[in-house]
Amino acid sequence: MKFSKILFSAAAAALLASPGLAASEKDADSNLLKEATRNFQPLPKRMENANNPLTDLKIELGKMLYFDPRLSKSGSISCNSCHGISSYGVDNLPTSIGHGWTIGGRNAPTVMNAALHKTQFWDGRAADVEAQAKGPILNPKEMAMPADAAAVERIASIPAYVDLFKKVFPGSKSPVSYDNIAFAIAAYERTLVTPSRFDAYLGGDRKALTQDEKKGLRLFMDNGCAGCHNGVAIGGGEFQVFGIMKPYQELTKSKKIDLGRYDLTKKEEDKNSFKVPSLRNIANTYPYFHDGSVWSLSDAVKIMLETQTSQKLESGEIALITAFLGSLTGEIPKKALELPVLPPSTEKTSRPDAN
Ligand code: HEC
Ligand code: HEC
Repeated sequence: MKFSKILFSAAAAALLASPGLAASEKDADSNLLKEATRNFQPLPKRMENANNPLTDLKIELGKMLYFDPRLSKSGSISCNSCHGISSYGVDNLPTSIGHGWTIGGRNAPTVMNAALHKTQFWDGRAADVEAQAKGPILNPKEMAMPADAAAVERIASIPAYVDLFKKVFPGSKSPVSYDNIAFAIAAYERTLVTPSRFDAYLGGDRKALTQDEKKGLRLFMDNGCAGCHNGVAIGGGEFQVFGIMKPYQELTKSKKIDLGRYDLTKKEEDKNSFKVPSLRNIANTYPYFHDGSVWSLSDAVKIMLETQTSQKLESGEIALITAFLGSLTGEIPKKALELPVLPPSTEKTSRPDAN
């Protein structure tokens, strides 16, 4: 970093006096774009999975289930309670509130673009959004259904749902199944793609980013951030120890010790290891880190520099990286934002149980 700063000031002094300035600025601009396209890719239109083909009706059914609190024991918690579609797929709480006001142990990551991650959850314990969707419904701290059969029974007691499942899964012996509930919800999640100005930039529109955002992008790549936060999701591709250079708790003031992936694998090297989060829409998905211990994005950037890299930057440079991260805020698809109308319960539908 120091080296390039010295180079920069020497070069800047020479260039200021020279008529070649415009040309070399152009070079720097196209180098930046070239380097960016090596590190990151623009979003696809939809996030496909050959094992769960997307159809309009499946997506619509999945949306209904996503918003339906009857998939919880209390009849009051839906996926949307913790992953609000209108708030970029999060609840903006340090850790979520679930069944019986239980406070969970980890921050709810966004569902937006999540299907692009190599694995799901902070510790990667689910392979994809299809497998993931089966977790929260049965998690006693989240939606708390006593068994998958109870969830299936609730949904199967509602004739409009049964009709839809038959149409969406025509080959299925029992269309209303726990697997198919998960397939439908995941199909909806696979439409939650949020293209941003950064995608336009990666597509070749150099004016899509401001000068400050471009400077921030340069710093993001030069200081090692893109070593971990890269690819189409700008993260989501690997696990890394949080606190490589120093214990993160010193900076985040986290009270609870969460060993991350270690709890799953029991391997020493996985202690404090977490999935590298996607940085798409990061300006909207505060608070930050697996325990939601940090509210400000520039503080999170500062902490990353100290815990994950050996670089020291000035506050102006941290502000530029933060500005770049702001360009990753995308547009939530309009269709995903339209609320579904849910069919009424019947005499047969099991009653909500808040206990
Ligand atoms: C009570 C709050 C709560 C509810 C309800 C809930 N989730 Fe989550 N969700 C979380 C938390 C917390 C995590 C992270 C847990 C972890 O990593 O250990 C998470 C993780 C996820 C992830 C992984 C994202 C990633 O980046 O790894 C997806 C996808 C997801 N939830 C989708 C859903 C769906 C679909 C539903 C409904 C069936 C649902 N959630 C219901 C709180 C909730
Ligand atoms: C060695 C890998 C690595 C490097 C390098 C790295 N990060 Fe991270 N980043 C992570 C991991 C892992 C997490 C999740 C930590 C946690 O919460 O447990 C994370 C979390 C974040 C978060 C919070 C995301 C969220 O959803 O809460 C931001 C913002 C962030 N990084 C930005 C940066 C920036 C900016 C840089 C460069 C200065 C950087 N990172 C460098 C691995 C890395």
